[in-house]
Amino acid sequence: MDKLRIAGGKRLVGSIPIGGAKNAALPLMCASLLTDEVLTLRHVPRLADIDTMTHLLQQHGVTITLLGANGRSNGQKNGGVTVKLQADDIASTTAPYDLVRKMRASVLVLGPLVARHGQARVSLPGGCAIGTRPIDLHLKGLQALGAEIELEGGYVSARAPHGLVGARVVFPTVSVGATENLLMAATLARGSTVLVNAAREPEITDLAQCLVAMGAGIEGVGTDEITIHGVERLHAADHAIVPDRIEAGTYAIAAAITGGDVELLGVDLPLIEAPARVLAEAGVAVTATEKGVRVAAGNRRPTGVDVMTEPFPGFPTDLQAQMMALMTVAEGAAMITETIFENRFMHVPELCRMGANINVHGASAMVRGVPALTGAPVMATDLRASVSLVLAGLAARGETMVNRIYHLDRGYERLEDKLAACGAAVERVRG
Ligand code: EPZ
Repeated sequence: MDKLRIAGGKRLVGSIPIGGAKNAALPLMCASLLTDEVLTLRHVPRLADIDTMTHLLQQHGVTITLLGANGRSNGQKNGGVTVKLQADDIASTTAPYDLVRKMRASVLVLGPLVARHGQARVSLPGGCAIGTRPIDLHLKGLQALGAEIELEGGYVSARAPHGLVGARVVFPTVSVGATENLLMAATLARGSTVLVNAAREPEITDLAQCLVAMGAGIEGVGTDEITIHGVERLHAADHAIVPDRIEAGTYAIAAAITGGDVELLGVDLPLIEAPARVLAEAGVAVTATEKGVRVAAGNRRPTGVDVMTEPFPGFPTDLQAQMMALMTVAEGAAMITETIFENRFMHVPELCRMGANINVHGASAMVRGVPALTGAPVMATDLRASVSLVLAGLAARGETMVNRIYHLDRGYERLEDKLAACGAAVERVRG
């Protein structure tokens, strides 16, 4: 298994291109199941999760063609590829256990399949490293649209042989995935659907914009009440994926933790407003530039800032581990509270092995800043926890070896190249 070796203490200076958002690309790929015409997606990041989704859709019968690297409109290479997806001949409506188990986002095929084909059978994803993560809200929503749902042998079977019917769906809690599944399903339902307490993440806005380009009738995009007027069929579209705000936030924190000065290319400041606000409070200058966002740390330690994760536009749970890494070397203390997932502090014991002072009480972690971390061999069991250890390693004295980096390859394209281009001493050790 590959590892990442980091010699800490190098200031990051330079620019980093931000790719298309993984968490937008995954549902957008599933949206291809809603039409027999070609869906063209641009800026699809090259990541292990995208490969898993590609395999899943191919086994459903979707033809997928990769068209090579492309650049953003500002001329900066952002990596990524253009992908053409065509679901004109669905071979199977079953999403098997071995693929769903690898990646929970596989459950996003459920809504589109049942909406267009009247049936779908999807393995239940089960728990994962960051919590139990049920899909009850996805299922109740589809039931409200008239699907018959049965659970059998670890699989969810959804049937709507005469099509889905629009309804009012009130989500008791905000769910990104359930909003996406219902949004896609409702585009082909008879009549109108209203999603109340819908998630407002930019990835949902991106999905809605693509669906509108495919011919869907959607109002209230970007608000917590989305109305979808069902149409008979959707058609071809060409869509550029929104930049990855979590990748951008991660590199912003990398700049901050190394006392660096980095320009994040291709991302707009409003996309990372909440993390930018926390960084500003910590004493890091975050400003919009012509090409993106500049993050410049002064030559003093950051100040401790309390952070609570919340649905968008609040502080994202997907940046909690990275911000905690920054707070471990802050002047003063920071209380970090996780409200989205019940088990998202796996990075804490590893950060403590690097010299951090963190105490967890329930959903909150009290981080008391220390002057410096020291390098150590570390590993983590999920994507964002792993990258927080990379950030800690960049700031630590001595060498850090991050093990099991296949987690990183799920969500960060060319992580070590992007960091090394800004002066980090980081290399992949093949194993
Ligand atoms: C999405 O997961 C993201 N994944 C996650 O990113 C992200 O952490 C999360 O949203 C929150 O922002 C993708 O977009 C592919 P949720 P999702 O449904 O959709 C509970 C990363 O690192 N819930 O908004 O699965 C759930 O358990 C990943 O890139 C139910 O109870 O998240 C959680 O506590 C990790 N029942 C909360 O809601 C349900 O039916 C929010 O989950 C659905 C969710």
